[in-house]
Amino acid sequence: MTTNNQGLLDRIRTKKARIGVIGLGYVGLPLAVEFARQGFDVCGFDVDESKSSQINAGHSYIPDVPQVDLCEVVKAGRLRATNQMADLAGMDVIDICVPTPLRKTKDPDLSYVVKAVEAVVASLKRGQLIILESTTYPGTTDEVVQPLLESRGLKADVDFFLAFSPERVDPGNQTFNTRNIPKIVGGIGPASTEVAALLYGSIVEKVVQVSSTRVAEMVKLLENTFRAVNIGLVNELALMCHKMDIDVWEVIDAAKTKPFGFMPFYPGPGLGGHCIPIDPFYLSWKARQNGFECRFIELAGNVNSAMPDFVVERVAEALNTVRKSINGSRVHLIGVAYKKDVNDMRESPALDVLELLSKRGAQLSYSDPFVPELTHGNHTLSSVDLPAALALGPDCAVICTDHTMFDYDALVNGGTLLVDTRNALKNRQSPRIFRL
Ligand SMILES: NC(=O)c1ccc[n+]([C@@H]2O[C@H](COP(=O)([O-])OP(=O)(O)OC[C@H]3O[C@@H](n4cnc5c(N)ncnc54)[C@H](O)[C@@H]3O)[C@@H](O)[C@H]2O)c1
Repeated sequence: MTTNNQGLLDRIRTKKARIGVIGLGYVGLPLAVEFARQGFDVCGFDVDESKSSQINAGHSYIPDVPQVDLCEVVKAGRLRATNQMADLAGMDVIDICVPTPLRKTKDPDLSYVVKAVEAVVASLKRGQLIILESTTYPGTTDEVVQPLLESRGLKADVDFFLAFSPERVDPGNQTFNTRNIPKIVGGIGPASTEVAALLYGSIVEKVVQVSSTRVAEMVKLLENTFRAVNIGLVNELALMCHKMDIDVWEVIDAAKTKPFGFMPFYPGPGLGGHCIPIDPFYLSWKARQNGFECRFIELAGNVNSAMPDFVVERVAEALNTVRKSINGSRVHLIGVAYKKDVNDMRESPALDVLELLSKRGAQLSYSDPFVPELTHGNHTLSSVDLPAALALGPDCAVICTDHTMFDYDALVNGGTLLVDTRNALKNRQSPRIFRL
């Protein structure tokens, strides 16, 4: 069997390969910009027309992509965006970065991946490299993507190349970005691994090759399951410490002084984002197909999803100290994005806290400079400037997300009861502070 990856290898080495990125969200846009910054000719594809118009106008809508970087590559003609999927025909490399959510039943929803791959199939050419970056269960690339791509007669690893390379970007992380996070690459065969590794090697500092697409898929799920399970463990410890009147935050801070064999995880109001609450269930679903029950994943899921209830109980306890009930109280949420310093609301636990408090009769408001408007269930709320909100004297304020920009000293110096789910008020003492 002969492979024909030489032409593509040369085009990548000389940066003549044209790169298409499908899905221009938190993952796809930083990747497209990095390829363009490193001198490749890049075209982004997104079904959402507003995204392509913003990119073509040089406007970045992803906080991790600096406006100036995007503008520079757009102006230089190295990055453009479109919703015309037929333009995929002109690409040498196609990177798929579309969502992989769960259905209501907690089963994987691969419909976005399938739709994107169908668009690729329509114009698949010899010598193209297709890479899936969306997080998914082991077997997606060879069981779902490969048969679709081969449906028109071309053979993977011979006529075209196919690899899986999980995205590990951590939005809001000031230290690690697309360029300095090592990239895992697993091809459907050696020719595919070789071209995909060369490609990423030209934009990231370190590429780690693995033996198959399944290993690459499993690496990402191990990483995210590791986080979900350890967060579940520490959330359970927080509940336990509360019963035993021990400060869980002090325990973790002391434990992490051990220089080996311990890694700190922190309790919080619950899991959020498009990854940690979702990805482990891709793995447990696939394991179940193989007759295996993932007990750790299920257990961590149960503990983590009960955290918003615990937060609401803490609000009830706080209000109880001033002879008030949740019903009728004005409760102000501080930070609603799923984590610090980002604008991403996907699966944010603040939404569950909001819903639970509302069901118990609280009157709700919130402050989050990253999230000007919030719509959830029957609620449509607008963010209120934090000092103005506190001046109105809410009965209780709940720190759901510890954005750096909040003035925590001012918060403690005001007269409001404070439920702190993130230890944002560390080292500040007041009988009005109720920690998780
Ligand atoms: N957000 C993260 O922090 C993160 C980190 C690592 C991995 N991931 C994974 O990366 C993948 C993408 O996540 P994201 O956060 O970038 O999602 P996102 O929702 O921010 O972006 C996805 C984009 O794909 C577009 N899209 C959907 N279907 C399309 C199609 N058929 N053709 C073209 N465009 C299409 C959407 O309009 C959207 O702009 C997911 O599998 C996710 O699990 C995300």
